[in-house]
Amino acid sequence: MDSDDDRERAVEAAFPELAAIEDDALRAGVRRAWTTAMADTGCSDLTSVPWFPPAQRRLGIDDEFLVDHVRDVTRLAVAMAETLHDCRTVDCDLDTVLVGALVHDVSKLYEFDGMDETPVGDLLGHPHYGVHVVSRAGLPVEYAHVVLSHTGRTTVDPATLEAEIIKRADEVAASAIRLRALDDLRDA
Ligand SMILES: [Fe+2]
Repeated sequence: MDSDDDRERAVEAAFPELAAIEDDALRAGVRRAWTTAMADTGCSDLTSVPWFPPAQRRLGIDDEFLVDHVRDVTRLAVAMAETLHDCRTVDCDLDTVLVGALVHDVSKLYEFDGMDETPVGDLLGHPHYGVHVVSRAGLPVEYAHVVLSHTGRTTVDPATLEAEIIKRADEVAASAIRLRALDDLRDA
């Protein structure tokens, strides 16, 4: 059985981008969201959690993992935010982008047990349950909004530039995975 310290170390190791979050409370909130999800679901190896089992089954891709995907989304989102800021002096908060990207899929731990869908996945889905997960971790409502609006599985559109960036980063990162098995994204 892993201890809280083991889980904290696992989260820090999985997501080096945590160190770039300037606000101590927000960084702690991201860490708490992941460690709580690990404890609740009995996850002892974060790096082995699959990216998205239904799509992986459909496409025959078994070696894509959630941690890698979350890191892809985080780095893509930060690159977009920095580019917008540099080119157009748009006020886009980097901490918000980092925190939102790092928690956007944390609730997938509750949605699947290995490759099998859980009742949370069947009855709610990760974007809906994620509202509960990030709120319980003490993160402000802006992050519940990021989680809820990052996918077309809900009817909530992004209200902020940061949420929009994370949604687009997620779409591109997911498309890059799908193209491993497809020649044309329209076949997805
Ligand atoms: Fe995602």
